[in-house]
Amino acid sequence: MHRAYGGVVPELASRDHIRRALPLLQQILEQAAITPAAIDAIAFTQGPGLAGALLVGASIANGLGLAWDKPVIGIHHLEGHLLSPLLANDPPSFPFVALLVSGGHTQLMRVTDIGDYEMLGETLDDAAGEAFDKTAKLLGLDYPGGPAVSQLATTGTPGAVVLPRPMLHSKDLDFSFSGLKTAVLTQVKQYGQPLDEQAKANLARGFVDAAVDVLTAKSVQALKQTGLSRLVVAGGVGANQQLRAALKVAAQKYAFDVHYPDPELCTDNGAMIALAGALRLQRWPAQANKHYAFTVRPR
Ligand code: KG4
Ligand code: ZN
Repeated sequence: MHRAYGGVVPELASRDHIRRALPLLQQILEQAAITPAAIDAIAFTQGPGLAGALLVGASIANGLGLAWDKPVIGIHHLEGHLLSPLLANDPPSFPFVALLVSGGHTQLMRVTDIGDYEMLGETLDDAAGEAFDKTAKLLGLDYPGGPAVSQLATTGTPGAVVLPRPMLHSKDLDFSFSGLKTAVLTQVKQYGQPLDEQAKANLARGFVDAAVDVLTAKSVQALKQTGLSRLVVAGGVGANQQLRAALKVAAQKYAFDVHYPDPELCTDNGAMIALAGALRLQRWPAQANKHYAFTVRPR
């Protein structure tokens, strides 16, 4: 639906949520044979995200809470991503460093326990996924472009196009990706004619190599700085095969473990929000909203 516009159109997204959310919920409850009696509480994404879409979720969660007399809990979207690897068969134990790489965020966090998170660094401009999506657009690939750029890069010649590694040598754990996207644009313009397939692949390769280099180096730096030896990678870009390969090499070299959520739990999903809600309610039962006064926090 959003592909025709090259990105998510907020109004279309919230209307689509309204159309689909209740039938989907009903289908899932039936398929999994879950009755309201088996449900302890209802968790929903409170933000950050698009206000309209968040309000649809908040309204449904609070409506169901009222109808079924269940506690309701609002969850921070990024906490869902941070805790998503705990749903894997081989879950990491606390503490760990989390690299959160999605379409909206690029952050390194120290995760000490449930609810105990310290931001170590983040992007000063574009998110990593956003850089993938913008590069895809410049190369004429469909939205969301991350997987397409990654695939195209596998046929590019290594080193044919070398792009800058923004902030690679800055002492902090912050990132910057807008310059990398501009570098792709400059290359496209310099080419002077429509890009042929190999030129596109070489550019994709140059972009992926630069982005992966920075993400890997900063993750290693965060592990050194915190003295931790466990890295968790979450968010849509965590599905990227080149990033996974680079982190595997780094993990051997610097002796740390890397954990990923199951592939289908890397991108946005409800399971991670349910998990975060369950863990929070277990630890702090009073966090449940008993008065059904709901809010969303788009930013
Ligand atoms: O976490 P997510 O599903 O949604 C947000 O909360 O943003 O992340 C979506 C982002 C998009 O920018 C998409 O292009 C990127 O993750 N992405 C990838 C891959 N799969 C998804 N980027 C690079 N390689 C991939 N395989
Ligand atoms: Zn997300």
